[in-house]
Amino acid sequence: MTAEHNSSLTVSPCPILRGAIAIPGDKSISHRSLMLGALAEGETSIRGLLLGEDPRSTAACFRAMGAEISKLNSELVTVRGVGLSGLKEPVDVLDAGNSGTTLRLMLGILAAQAGRFFAVTGDGSLRSRPMGRVVTPLQKMGAQIWGRVGGDRAPLAVQGQRLQGIHYQSPVASAQVKSCVLLAGLWAEGETTVTEPAPSRDHSERMLTAFGADLSVDRAARTATVRSGAQLYGQPVTVPGDISSAAFWLVAGAIAPEADLLVQNVGINPTRTGILDVLQQMGANLKLENEREEAGEPIADVRIQSSQLQGCEIGGDTIPTLIDEIPILAVAAAFAQGKTTIRDAAELRVKESDRLAAMATELTKMGVLLEEHPDGMEIWGGQPLEGAVVESYGDHRIAMSLAIAALQANSPTTIRGADCASISYPTFVPTLQQIAPASVA
Ligand code: S3P
Repeated sequence: MTAEHNSSLTVSPCPILRGAIAIPGDKSISHRSLMLGALAEGETSIRGLLLGEDPRSTAACFRAMGAEISKLNSELVTVRGVGLSGLKEPVDVLDAGNSGTTLRLMLGILAAQAGRFFAVTGDGSLRSRPMGRVVTPLQKMGAQIWGRVGGDRAPLAVQGQRLQGIHYQSPVASAQVKSCVLLAGLWAEGETTVTEPAPSRDHSERMLTAFGADLSVDRAARTATVRSGAQLYGQPVTVPGDISSAAFWLVAGAIAPEADLLVQNVGINPTRTGILDVLQQMGANLKLENEREEAGEPIADVRIQSSQLQGCEIGGDTIPTLIDEIPILAVAAAFAQGKTTIRDAAELRVKESDRLAAMATELTKMGVLLEEHPDGMEIWGGQPLEGAVVESYGDHRIAMSLAIAALQANSPTTIRGADCASISYPTFVPTLQQIAPASVA
């Protein structure tokens, strides 16, 4: 799914925010439920799937390899899987669109399909992102993969092989790298282990176990191991709301002069909740209500009310637990008293855009005092923001972060290319209109 995004959104200031917000399904869990459903024997039923462009890319790729996936909707999607030995060689290039998760996780699966050939690509952003981080461990397992820049950039060609299990010490704390290698391990001879430098989101480990994979986790050693041989079986999956989408409203509420928002059904898997810890540390008036568990993932409703935030330090092992929330945390920092320092976040430079450069450039246009560093930035917050014409860089999280900053600027802000929000959050603008009716014309 490669889409053009070039329509603008103008957001006017709105000091009062109120309402209950239903957020869309978790993007990471949506991808994994489609992929594991496609690889399982029998039927998988998915409730609450994210209808964004990224999961649509995953569904299109696996349909092209023989999985029967019903029309996508957030009520109920059914996937009739092909089983671990049933994936068909697609007759055309597999297009992951804008989605790094689709491409990187899928490469682990494709590399292990002995005797079948695959060509994979993505949009301009994805074709500029590093793939060596998954190609290198797959090649150590015996994979045959070719591509631009020595196999580091898509388009890539994959000739499926019988793979060998390895113990991979990943140099990056990346759930995409970990998941890619573990997925390849479903077919590899013997045992496949991944050790990470810091814990990243563990949705793959949870869902692989639920589908019947022979997988064990040693949390203290930051290690996950999968042994081949077990079949996967279709399961009912309930996708929780995406905490990375909830984050926009949590910051919107925290920085508004008068706010009371209830963000419902938020996934609070501990590998994802760095945003809640940091907002609390900054002094946000935030409470978890109605904590419960559904289909192996913890969820809660999160109430956020206005507060005066204080600057803080964000770095180290916290970074992987809020990796996608750093753009919106930069907005929180712009409204916090004193200095906020973000460090150890160089990974942001290889996301859908260079998110450090994008936020530094665009917040500067709105009058924020900051200094960009190779692995983060320092932000001196608490000064009024001015409306401006700003760029999304085709990056959904940049577009939405700037829209939230615009709500508390002193004049309207136009975000160019803001419709890319639909990659992860197709209902972002309607929800903005719901809680701040005067903000969007
Ligand atoms: C994801 C992992 C993270 C995150 C991305 C989704 C996943 O990427 O930024 O949006 O679903 O595994 P990295 O693995 O590159 O950190």
